[in-house]
Amino acid sequence: MRSTTSQHLNRTGLSNAPKLARELVQGTRSTRPSSEGNAESMASVRIAYSRNGEPVGSIPPPDPEAAPSKALAGAPIFLDKLGERLAFERSGVRLYDALLSKFDAFGTWKNGPARADLEEIRKDEFAHFMMLRQAMVDLGGDPTAVTPSADVHGVASQGLVAVLADPRTTLGQSLEAILVAELVDNDCWENLSDLATALGKEELAEKFQDALTEEREHLRRVRSWLGAALNQTATGELGDVFLARAKERERRTAGRAAERQVKTKRKRSGSAKPKRASARNGAKKASKRGAKTGRRRAQAR
Ligand SMILES: [Fe+2]
Ligand SMILES: [Fe+2]
Repeated sequence: MRSTTSQHLNRTGLSNAPKLARELVQGTRSTRPSSEGNAESMASVRIAYSRNGEPVGSIPPPDPEAAPSKALAGAPIFLDKLGERLAFERSGVRLYDALLSKFDAFGTWKNGPARADLEEIRKDEFAHFMMLRQAMVDLGGDPTAVTPSADVHGVASQGLVAVLADPRTTLGQSLEAILVAELVDNDCWENLSDLATALGKEELAEKFQDALTEEREHLRRVRSWLGAALNQTATGELGDVFLARAKERERRTAGRAAERQVKTKRKRSGSAKPKRASARNGAKKASKRGAKTGRRRAQAR
């Protein structure tokens, strides 16, 4: 693993040059700002623009080639969020492409990712993209259109792309950007799955739930690789504190998954109160899923 320090002297701090720092502060007092106004007047301009400005895009019109029965069969907000996740998963494939280049350039570390791990996650992101593309087509939407929410997430993610595309960043630093992407992705898949359930699109909700399970595994792996990198860089070994944190996260994730399955099952059966048997079945399924995940982890090691 390449060190993040270099032979170049970092001159960004003022404390290395106290004389120049004093001159800089004096300079700010002896010159006038280039324009009038202060923070309050900036805020009033922002508010005026926000109230009178255009919204960020709009929901695209239905695909003219779609069958009439399918024409925009989804609520506008659902198509908006579907378009958002679709664009994010497509970008996710490209982020992992860039991450693979970092792997090839710098190599990995003990308990860090293998090339096959990164390729596997990239494959998942691509499969999610294809599944969402089909869902959008089935609902009569245009999978190539940029929806408002896709636009917002695209702008918010620009920094992640910049980190991965910077030739100076290491595999570890790039994984920090991937961590941000996976955290956002996990929350947004939860929202999309819940939205599908709320709209009575059970089949899609189930597919989204499966994608969420895979995304949770991505997040777990990225966290563990980063933890191993940080610990080894700091102490030269893999510390217990990082292993304990990883175990705690796994426990929390398994608990949430079991709870969620029981809730979904209860909702589908229309029963107000949890039945003991259905709760047991939900927990059983979750533990089966946990075993499957465990096998994947073992293979990854
Ligand atoms: Fe993803
Ligand atoms: Fe992911």
